[in-house]
Amino acid sequence: MSDSSYWFKPPPRPSQIPMRPAEPINPLVEISIDGEKVAIPTGSTILDACKKIGLDTPTICYQDTLTPVNVCRVCVVELEGSRILVPSCSRKVEPGMVIQTDSERVRHSRKMVLEFLESSVDLSTSPQILMQAKRYQTDPSRYGDPAPPAAQNERDHHHAGHHEIPTGAQALTVAQPPKVDNSLYVRDYAKCLLCYKCVEACGTDAQNTFAIAVAGRGFDGRISTEFNNPLTDSACVYCGNCIAVCPTGALSFKSEFDMRKAGSWDESAQTQTDTICSYCGVGCTLTLHVQENKIVKVTSPFDQEITEGNLCIKGRFGYTHVQNIDETNPLSTEEVSH
Ligand code: SF4
Ligand code: SF4
Ligand code: FES
Repeated sequence: MSDSSYWFKPPPRPSQIPMRPAEPINPLVEISIDGEKVAIPTGSTILDACKKIGLDTPTICYQDTLTPVNVCRVCVVELEGSRILVPSCSRKVEPGMVIQTDSERVRHSRKMVLEFLESSVDLSTSPQILMQAKRYQTDPSRYGDPAPPAAQNERDHHHAGHHEIPTGAQALTVAQPPKVDNSLYVRDYAKCLLCYKCVEACGTDAQNTFAIAVAGRGFDGRISTEFNNPLTDSACVYCGNCIAVCPTGALSFKSEFDMRKAGSWDESAQTQTDTICSYCGVGCTLTLHVQENKIVKVTSPFDQEITEGNLCIKGRFGYTHVQNIDETNPLSTEEVSH
């Protein structure tokens, strides 16, 4: 016969609860920025050091929650001894670096980058980039009038070396009709400046779905699904994490797109309320953007340690039941926009 007390014997208590290992203390590196000495931990970037001393460095493709891809080059600074300007968002500090962030060369380079973007991309829903353009006194009109927009899907079939060579008489643009192929979100690539953030968010930085990537080369470079399929036939899982990181509004909720088109989108009349998603136990924070008593879009704060602004389809788009709208299609946002 077994001794029942044996089965209920509690495990021995550890004499001490194991502690989380202490964070490694990175030694400080001293550099000079615009003549000011800055001490900052090893592994920091020049951008971190600039922030530490309160410098407002423009960035477009950089975001704290994503791996830097160094594509926009608007954050460049002058590094003594370096032949070329270096991207501050990704270049790590090294002892003794001497950096200029506001030299003629830096200002000229930033101005050119912003001017090229302004002349070729619709920045009408990118107020922060337009503010930077104003700061650097850009003049995109010197590239000429914008060339006529491409037809629907025309740019998706461009191959390097297989299209008309620009004459230089007009400014080439990425203007084209928006892609509206599902009821949740719209891709308006006339507003895309190829910052790669959506690709990063769809890839290893967040979602690991890899539904979109950059296709084409040079000015034909564009964000595309596999074989340029409509979103509905692609690998997209509609998490909307690409929308969350897009800096220009090229990717937007269908509700926002429709309201902007109708002229009823009014951020000054919107409230933002944080709540917890109740669809599963992860418990992501949802920020509900509400206008005229209707949820018009859902975001999530980037400073949440676990989710970093990312959601799944349910948290991002599954809100219409709250408003008791279109019960036959609970994920549809059609009604929200009217
Ligand atoms: S769609 Fe938006 S996030 Fe993606 S590359 Fe274009 S501008 Fe960047
Ligand atoms: S957003 Fe998705 S993962 Fe997050 S709590 Fe809601 S259902 Fe769960
Ligand atoms: S923000 Fe640094 S390269 Fe884009």
